[in-house]
Amino acid sequence: MTIQASYHFPRGFLWGTATAAHQVEGNNTNNQWWEWEQDGYTDGKSGLACDWWGGRWREDFDRAAEGQQNAHRLSVEWSRIQPTPDTWDEDALEHYRNMLRGLRERGMTPMVTLHHFTDPLWLGDGWETGAAVSAFEKFVRKTVEALKEYCTLWCTINEPNGYALNGYVNRGVAMFPPGKNNTRLAFRVMAIMVRAHAAAYHAIHDIQKEARVGYALNYRSFVPYRTWSPLDKLSVKTAFNALNIGFPSALATGVMHSPLGSIKVPEAKGTQDYFGFNYYTRDYVTFDLRKPKTLFAHNFFAKDADLSDNKFIANEPEGMFDGLKWIVRMFPNLPILITENGIEDADDHMRPRYLAQHIHQIWRAVNFNWPVKGYFHWSLVDNFEWERGWTQRFGLWGLDIETQKRIKRPSADLYAEICKENGLTSEMVSKYCPEAFEKLFPV
Ligand code: BGC
Repeated sequence: MTIQASYHFPRGFLWGTATAAHQVEGNNTNNQWWEWEQDGYTDGKSGLACDWWGGRWREDFDRAAEGQQNAHRLSVEWSRIQPTPDTWDEDALEHYRNMLRGLRERGMTPMVTLHHFTDPLWLGDGWETGAAVSAFEKFVRKTVEALKEYCTLWCTINEPNGYALNGYVNRGVAMFPPGKNNTRLAFRVMAIMVRAHAAAYHAIHDIQKEARVGYALNYRSFVPYRTWSPLDKLSVKTAFNALNIGFPSALATGVMHSPLGSIKVPEAKGTQDYFGFNYYTRDYVTFDLRKPKTLFAHNFFAKDADLSDNKFIANEPEGMFDGLKWIVRMFPNLPILITENGIEDADDHMRPRYLAQHIHQIWRAVNFNWPVKGYFHWSLVDNFEWERGWTQRFGLWGLDIETQKRIKRPSADLYAEICKENGLTSEMVSKYCPEAFEKLFPV
């Protein structure tokens, strides 16, 4: 017998997808990632990507709107808007105004990210020296002034912790540019990003009173491998503090904590109007003397984990709930947006259950009255996955990069039903991921 049951969300909940300029636009030749790709550090090149700069954003926004989404998170490309330190490209700004108008016309609330991993080439080592702080603020002022008619929801920096750690700590896997190996410098870069975020926060509020400004944290959940072991618990703390704690601590207290010590950033205290939360997966952590580089913390997925195509992500929905709980304790009453969540799964055998199970955990949080206000699935359509290039497919829609043809995955239909219903029902689970039924609707 099928149980008729549903998990509903509050009225006005934002349901969308997220994208980033470099991953979808194509031909972003003037930033450090393009150079990194030409130098052979990525698995394939971004090339034309999803050709949004060529205008295909229109058809993809149509797909999102037909898919019942009422919001979309996109990013603008700094190197297009400010091709040299002294020039602004008004046509590029007009292009983004058209896109935001396009979202509005389709009934979707735009959320704009101002920095999503890419820097204009002229910025050089600005995130190391600190020169990026005033440069970013200048860029933000210009851009927000140009786009403010269409957007009030801003994300200053996407995953500053990801930018700093993937670019400056060599863990033996492919890296982000600049591909250095200097943990101290990684945390210095992170602190400079905190200062840039704070400057941008104030700049945006100067320009637009009703603005809501935050950033997006790359959060990973960690649990001890041996629950009884104090050393494993210590290692969880180390891993957690290395990845998750920097920005939140700085914005809560004005002091950025890291495993290598604290850095004062008093101007950052209180500079967020919502908590932007990117959650993908959870690790086990154990203390391992052979891992001095990571301060003896060794992370891995559970042996019986439900793993994605490239074993890049384990389906661990409880980590989403734990993360939300941690946010609420640290920042009571601060609105929360899930700014990213998704999985690479070319044949879509796993995404439907991943999606349903994560949305169920968000529903649990909402039922504690935790102020979760929206969910942005990563991503609308397959796009260029950074150092992993085209080897990972995160889209609700697939993309054939040779022909630019989009191919709908079943998850696109499931997500459309969720957005339309403003919730998840037992019928949807029976139809798209019956294997998760008992977990989601226990008798
Ligand atoms: C990034 C996205 C990326 C996604 C999946 C996130 O960390 O913000 O740009 O595509 O992960 O890899």
